[in-house]
Amino acid sequence: MDARPNSPEARDISYHMHGYTNARKHEEAGPLVIEKGDGIYVEDLAGNRYIEAMAGLWSVAVGFSEKRLVDAAVRQMSKLPYYHDFGSKSHSPLIDLAEKLVQMAPVPMSKAYFTNSGSEANDTAMKMIWYRSNALGQPARKKIISRIRGYHGVTIASASLTGLPNNHNSFDLPIGNVLHTSTPHHWREALPNESEGEFSSRLADDLEKLILAEGPETIAAFFGEPIMGAGGVIVPPAGYWEKIQAVLSKYDILLVADEVICGFGRTGEMFGSQTFGIRPDIMVLSKQISSSYLPISALLINEKVFGPIADESNRIGTFGHGFTGGGHPVAAAVALENLKLIEERDLVGNARRVGAHMQERLRKFASHPLVGEVRGVGLIAAVELVGDKANKTPWETAGALGGLVNGFMQQNGVISRNMGDALAFCPPLIITEPQVDQVIEAFERSLEAAAGQVGSPS
Ligand SMILES: Cc1ncc(COP(=O)(O)O)c(C=O)c1O
Repeated sequence: MDARPNSPEARDISYHMHGYTNARKHEEAGPLVIEKGDGIYVEDLAGNRYIEAMAGLWSVAVGFSEKRLVDAAVRQMSKLPYYHDFGSKSHSPLIDLAEKLVQMAPVPMSKAYFTNSGSEANDTAMKMIWYRSNALGQPARKKIISRIRGYHGVTIASASLTGLPNNHNSFDLPIGNVLHTSTPHHWREALPNESEGEFSSRLADDLEKLILAEGPETIAAFFGEPIMGAGGVIVPPAGYWEKIQAVLSKYDILLVADEVICGFGRTGEMFGSQTFGIRPDIMVLSKQISSSYLPISALLINEKVFGPIADESNRIGTFGHGFTGGGHPVAAAVALENLKLIEERDLVGNARRVGAHMQERLRKFASHPLVGEVRGVGLIAAVELVGDKANKTPWETAGALGGLVNGFMQQNGVISRNMGDALAFCPPLIITEPQVDQVIEAFERSLEAAAGQVGSPS
């Protein structure tokens, strides 16, 4: 880090409070200031180039220098830089994007509703679900079930849906009416000799027990990511979604698929719901919708959700919810162009093909003494690092080895991210096989460097 008092790093320490950062450690270590992007690469102030193997925050599908998105933004900015959708107002990019998303949906959807972030979209989903229960004359049906280690964002409602301690501790969360059920992580949670199918059945039983204990008439919806992302890239075991959905239909509970990471090709299908046979009532979309060039998110809702909400808005006089920036025309124009690129360049097929290569190369590390599990689908994966392979326990403290390897990755020219000891890989969907090989070689060097420090045989 450049320690001169007026350096960008020093000014960052002086003036900027970071998200998801230890604020005191940051005062010592300072930031990594990223100055520009090019394809799958980003470059820091000192001119060091990195492969961005997390696509920013799981989001930059088309890479960091897509001129067509820049042009789409400039065109829209010059024509109509801002408008909204309150009081029946609309604009062309929003109409085009709503139509496009409803047509892309893997199950029949009725309407698209626009927000600015994944968190806002999940908050909105929760409010829509409560509003609908009231509309249906079922005011007791307000509880929402999500999962331990699920991630749905950080606003008060969506952080409550999130099932991770760092999002609850000292924030006085979760709020009431949010319940958490078991994590579908076979490697960590299965009983000895329990097959994936048996484990999935046990988790569906857990869910049913929770519903019965709370009273089925009080449960409104279940929220889940097709693959859990920030919880450590947890791929559901065989039969999981089928069995969970059978329980939800039995008690007429809505299903919300949080596709914020999986949506738009990440798993090798357009949506994670297709990869896992999920039939949601609401889909939550963000990140790769615009490759995060501009903030935009959306909910797709089916007629079962829209119908009662529309009637209730008629009874009250309005649907009293909306955001100033929701469906911003420039963000919507960028999203439309981004979706066009994903289709034209068959980035979903690329995620499938290059993803298969990435998965195969990563799985070769499964026998390494510091690797507990390698998991993933398409272009999303994690390597779970352990200190004691047999007992699946961490080296020193939880997250220490993950942090160590992640640090070596950066020194080796690759930006990855450790969620505790799970080191995640989620590169832009434009990545090629030779570029995946560079990521893997950096990982191999980083793992060996860590092994040297940990004192483990490699
Ligand atoms: C599955 C999922 N849902 C919701 C969110 C929250 O999105 P945002 O950070 O845009 O609020 C995220 C963010 O990583 C996510 O991964």
